[in-house]
Amino acid sequence: MGVAETVRVDARSRSYDVVVGWGLLASLGARVHAVCKAENAFVVSDSNVAPLYLAACEASLTAAGLRVASHVFPAGEQHKRMGTFEQILEDMAGAGLTRDDVVIALGGGVVGDMAGFAAASYMRGIEVVQVPTTLLAMVDSSVGGKTAIDLSTGKNLVGAFLQPSLVVADVSLLATLDDEVFTDGMGEVVKHGVLADEELFDELAVHPLLPGTSDLAYLAHIVARNVAIKRDVVNADETERGLRQTLNLGHTLGHAIEAAHDFTLGHGHCVAAGLCCIARAAEALGWAEAGLSARIDRCVAAQGLPIDTEVAHQTLLVFATLDKKRHGDGVNVIVPTGISRCEIRRVSLAAFSHIIDLGCGTSPA
Ligand code: GLY
Repeated sequence: MGVAETVRVDARSRSYDVVVGWGLLASLGARVHAVCKAENAFVVSDSNVAPLYLAACEASLTAAGLRVASHVFPAGEQHKRMGTFEQILEDMAGAGLTRDDVVIALGGGVVGDMAGFAAASYMRGIEVVQVPTTLLAMVDSSVGGKTAIDLSTGKNLVGAFLQPSLVVADVSLLATLDDEVFTDGMGEVVKHGVLADEELFDELAVHPLLPGTSDLAYLAHIVARNVAIKRDVVNADETERGLRQTLNLGHTLGHAIEAAHDFTLGHGHCVAAGLCCIARAAEALGWAEAGLSARIDRCVAAQGLPIDTEVAHQTLLVFATLDKKRHGDGVNVIVPTGISRCEIRRVSLAAFSHIIDLGCGTSPA
């Protein structure tokens, strides 16, 4: 077991630790026991993760004196829906969970969202501990308290902010990820580098973090740096009134690309392409420093992620403007202006259409 780093988050509503290291699952129960007064732990997981890690998770919680029940739902974004949510809540009630008990989210982003929202809703809110099992969940979705489920009209349209009481990011769990799922997480990692950490960005451009890496200490170091970047933003703006919007860099176009692919292309892949597209447009408009776009393209491509999209511009425009982050008649776009520099620009729909024309499907061959 190794703890590389503990990152302390001080959000307005709650302070908590994000423990990053390897071989941590065995100590999960003791760590939960140290921060929660729960007698019951309710583990939510999915059909991909449960066969691999649920038994170890439950054993650790039981060894710490907690009574454990669980709910495993079929893996996939298509199950992040009201029906699954209701079944989880029914099982929580059936297990006799009280307001003092704790939900454990064991899985990737879908599990974290689903379990977090169930915890936020059950008896008007009980504690949740996030145990992310994908790189994307470790560097992004398990930290910061966003929880949600999807509606037929769009992703994450119903949800709540609930900061976890603890996050345990055990990078040894990443060994069982499909290569493509590992790489997907790198979309958010590169985004964090562009937003706030030039050293991280330059390091990744030269030494991409590729699937199959056996250097757990390096992996944990990269995860902890990303958590610290997100921590700084969440501490300043927990509920996305201002600075937290910058974490949506690459996401306006990224979400449109994701929707146009009917969610068959990973979120991180779409964010990476969206990031490159907005950087290309920003440079063409003179908003970003010369050379930024090529620099971002190189770093993104080095991770094995796409730098552009072939989706038709009109389709992108329609999906981007359906996005819940649209405000009134305009769109708030996060524009990278340099590495470690970005600005929030409110643009009209016509201007956004021009951004799509400049940035999408225009990468140099
Ligand atoms: N993934 C962006 C955020 O948590 O705000």
